[in-house]
Amino acid sequence: MRKQILIMNILVLGSGGREHTFAWKIAQSEECNKLFVAPGNSGTEKIATNLSINVTDFGAIKAAVLENDISLVVVGPEDPLVQGIHDFFLADEVIKHVSVIGPQKAAAELEGSKEFAKAFMSRHNIPTAAYQSFTKENVEEGYQFLESLNPPYVLKADGLAAGKGVLILNDLEEAKSELKSMLLDAKFGEASAKVVIEEFLDGIELSCFVLTDGKDYKILPTAKDYKRIGEGDTGLNTGGMGAISPVPFATNEFLEKVERQIVKPTVEGLQKDSLPYVGFIFIGLIKVGDQPKVIEYNVRMGDPETEVVLPRLKTDLVEIFNAMSNQSLSEVNIDIDERAATTVVLVSGGYPEAYEKGKAIRGIDEVNDSILFHAGAKKSDGKVITSGGRVMAVTSYGNTYEEAIKKSYQSIEKLHFDKMYYRKDLGFDL
Ligand code: AMP
Ligand code: GLY
Repeated sequence: MRKQILIMNILVLGSGGREHTFAWKIAQSEECNKLFVAPGNSGTEKIATNLSINVTDFGAIKAAVLENDISLVVVGPEDPLVQGIHDFFLADEVIKHVSVIGPQKAAAELEGSKEFAKAFMSRHNIPTAAYQSFTKENVEEGYQFLESLNPPYVLKADGLAAGKGVLILNDLEEAKSELKSMLLDAKFGEASAKVVIEEFLDGIELSCFVLTDGKDYKILPTAKDYKRIGEGDTGLNTGGMGAISPVPFATNEFLEKVERQIVKPTVEGLQKDSLPYVGFIFIGLIKVGDQPKVIEYNVRMGDPETEVVLPRLKTDLVEIFNAMSNQSLSEVNIDIDERAATTVVLVSGGYPEAYEKGKAIRGIDEVNDSILFHAGAKKSDGKVITSGGRVMAVTSYGNTYEEAIKKSYQSIEKLHFDKMYYRKDLGFDL
C-alpha cells in the first residue's frame, strides 16, 4: 500500500549555503508543493520562489505565510529563534497551526546565552569545560579566577556576537585586560555584559547533529568544519571554509559515548527543564583523549556542515520534519548514504575582514561532478554575482573523503570570480 503523503507549501528562512541546501533537499520531496525561501540567494532562486523578507521581520513572515498558504517553516539561522519566532507563531491564532522547525525562545537560549548552556550542562552532568561567569559587579573576582588558571585563557561573551565573541589568549595580563574591555567597555555590546571564563580544552573538534521532536531524537552524520581562513588552521576565524562528513576519527566507540554521555542527557534535560524543542541541535564537540566534551550548543544546523550532512541523508526531509512536528520522530528511519561528502567554500578575497562585492561568477554551468550551493551570491541583470564573504560551497561525494575533496578541487578549477579565495588543504589534519 502506498503511504499517505501530505502535500504542502514550505518556507525556508535564511540566505546562506545552509538554506540553499535545505531548499535543494526539500525540493526533492514529493510532499513539497510550492517552495519559498526568504530572502534566499541566486541558488535558491533556481529551485524556489525567493521572497524579499528579512528573517527577523516576523510581521512580514506572517503575511507571507498567509498569502502563500504555507504550512511548514524551516528556520535556518539562530537570530529568529533566539528572538522567539516559534513562540510568535504559537501565540497567534491565525498561524499557530503552521509547523515551525526550530526551538522555542526558552530553549534557543542554549545558543543565545553561553552561561545558560553551561548551567544546563552542569545540571544534567554533560561533560564540558569547567567554568565560572562574571559581570561588571564582580570583575575583580574574574581577575582572581584568571590568576588561578593556567594559560591559554578562554573568554566567551555570554550573548550572540556573530561568531566573534570567543577569545583565546596566552597572556594573563592580556586576558585580564580583555575581560575588562568586555565587561566594562562593552567590547561586544550587550552580548558581553556577562562573560564566561572556562578551562581550555586541548583536542580535535567535530560536530554532532541531532534532530528532536522534544521527546525522541535521531542522530545525523557527524561533520568537521574548517573555521580558520588560512591553511594549516591559521589566521582569523570565519563562518566556515569547508567541511567533511563523516569524521574519520569519530569511531563507533567514540560515537556511542557521545550518544550516551551527551545526546541522551541533552534531550532528557530539555524535557526535565520544560524547554520546548522541535528542531536541530548542533553540538560542537571536542575530543580530549578519548573523551567527548561539549564546546557549545547551536540551535540550528551548521553552515557549511549542512552542505555535507544533508547530501548524505537519503530519507525524505519533509517526511522527517512532519514527524518532528507530530511528535512521531521515533517512527522514522533515517537512511544515510555510505559515501563521504566534502564541501569547499569559495570566499571573497579579504574575508572575514573587508572585501568587495558584485564580482561576476563564471563557470557555474560547467560544473557537473559537484553540487554548487550558493551563499553570498545573487542574480543581477541575468548574471550571478558575489554579494557576501562566503560565496559558494562546492560539495562532492566520494568513496573516501580524499576522493571527495579531490573532486571538489577539480570542480573549482572551472569556477572563477575576481579575488576568489579558498583553502586548498582541507583534510590536512586527518
Ligand atoms: P564557540 O563560539 O563556543 O564555538 O567557540 C569558538 C571556538 O573557540 C571553538 O570552535 C573552539 O575552537 C574554541 N574554543 C571554545 N571553547 C574552548 C575551550 N574551552 N577550549 C579550547 N578551545 C575552545
Ligand atoms: N560552521 C559553524 C557554524 O555554523 O556555526
